[in-house]
Order: sequence, then C-alpha cells, then structure tokens
Amino acid sequence: MKATERAAEIISRSSATLALTGAGISAESGIPPFRGQGGLWDRYNPEEYATIDAFLNNPGKVWNMLKEVGEIILKSKPNDAHRALAELEEMGKLRGIVTQNIDGLHQAAGNKTVIEFHGTHKQIICMSCCKRIKLEQLIIQDLPPLCSCGGILKPEVVLFGEPIPYDALRTAFQEASTCKALLVIGTSAVVAPASQIPLIAKQNAATIIEINTESTILTTGISDIFLEGSASQILPQIVNLLKQ
Ligand code: OAD
Repeated sequence: MKATERAAEIISRSSATLALTGAGISAESGIPPFRGQGGLWDRYNPEEYATIDAFLNNPGKVWNMLKEVGEIILKSKPNDAHRALAELEEMGKLRGIVTQNIDGLHQAAGNKTVIEFHGTHKQIICMSCCKRIKLEQLIIQDLPPLCSCGGILKPEVVLFGEPIPYDALRTAFQEASTCKALLVIGTSAVVAPASQIPLIAKQNAATIIEINTESTILTTGISDIFLEGSASQILPQIVNLLKQ
C-alpha cells in the first residue's frame, strides 16, 4: 500500500483527526515561508524585526516588514491544500486546525474550527485604546501607523517574547492530547510551544502523518507516515481516496 493510501486509511478510521499547519501550506498562495532560501528571515533578521522588544523600541522599523507582509496577505488566496482541509472538515473527517499562520487562509477556504496559535495579521489593534480594525481597512501613510487616539497600531500577531493567546494554547494542547491522528503540514516544527503539539499527540498514541517538501526534525522518530511533496498536491489526493 502506498504511503498516501495508508494515510487516507488512518484518517478514514480515526474518530478525531487534527491538523497542525505552518507556512509551507501557504507557500503556493504566494506567501513566503520564514526559514530556508527566499524565506522572510533571510531578508529580515527576526531579532531586529520579530520580537516584541524590537517593536516597542522601534515600531516604525518593524512596520517596514509588517507592511510588506500585510500587502502580501491582502493579495493571497487559498490554494488546493487549504481547500482540501476545508473539504475534510466538511466531510466530518477533520476536527479542527491549529495553525501557526497569520494569513486567515484556512477560514477563507471554509474551515470553521481554526485555532490561530500565533494570532492573526488580518486584525490590527491599537496598543493604547485596544480598538481593532481590519487589515483591509488599514490606511498606512507614515510608519508606524497610528490609531485615531494617537496610539501605535500593531497586527494581532504573536511576536517573539509575547505569550501565545491563552485560549489558543489551552485548546490546542487539549486537542493535541485527545486526537487520534495528527496531520503536520508545511511546518519546520522548530518554534516552541507549537512544536510541542506533535509530541503531545504522539505521547497520547495518535498517529502522526507529516506532509512536507523536505524532512524535518519530526520525520525520523516522531512521524509515523512521511508524505514528501507539496501539500497542495498531497492533500487533494488524500481527499480523493477518502471519497472512493
Ligand atoms: P518555516 O518557514 O519554518 O517552515 C516551513 C516549512 O514548510 C518547511 O519545513 C518547508 O520544507 C515546508 N514547505 C515549503 N513549501 C511547502 C509546500 N508547498 N508543501 C509542504 N511543505 C512545504 O515555517 P513555520 O514552521 O510555519 O512564528 O514557522 C513556525 C513559526 O516560525 C512561524 O509561525 C513564525 C516563525 O518565526 C512567529 O513569528 C512567532
């Protein structure tokens, strides 16, 4: 039996399948991943651009990166991998998604249960009065953009040094400890605490199915099935097998 067929069989028999997604699932939607060649951290040193201290010390500088990310997100659309996960949920074969992504593409594809572990770039919050505006409504003239109250605006994303939103952390860990199968898609799985999710699932006897264009720290030792290739090709194949 081919690995894709084994994965489809496990999902068809599983009473609770969860997905953990990372930047790789959105790569074919035109959003660059963080690590590796052409990744965001190639051009922006995360210590200077992705920590809460860097933001508080020099929000204008960090907004150079945030503005670029926001523009890319506004143009992006879900790809076949996002659509396949939405179909899996619709079929009753996926309990939910824990995503490290901040692009809102799972919801745009139709998924209803999405835990945004690192927050969202689709919502902007004022650091003084806590007013929220949608990314679509943000008009940037100067950097950093300011709220009508004069406060500094910040996307509702988790920067390094900030805590994971409590509800997201609690629910994600709970889901990880009770799922029977975990799809780990397009993540290098090196950033904690999201990287603990596959370990928690594994400790609780879930089958780990990893989909990635290259092997990761999970591939040998944690993943039970490794499907090497693009998520936008592999996930639709799994959905088709489940329909047969
Ligand atoms: P990374 O950039 O670290 O990893 C992306 C992964 O996707 C890599 O393992 C690639 O091999 C894989 N990949 C690329 N294209 C793919 C495709 N078409 N199909 C399947 N896999 C593909 O991104 P994340 O693991 O999401 O956090 O990074 C985790 C966190 O690090 C991010 O949420 C962000 C970052 O720092 C914060 O900023 C807090």
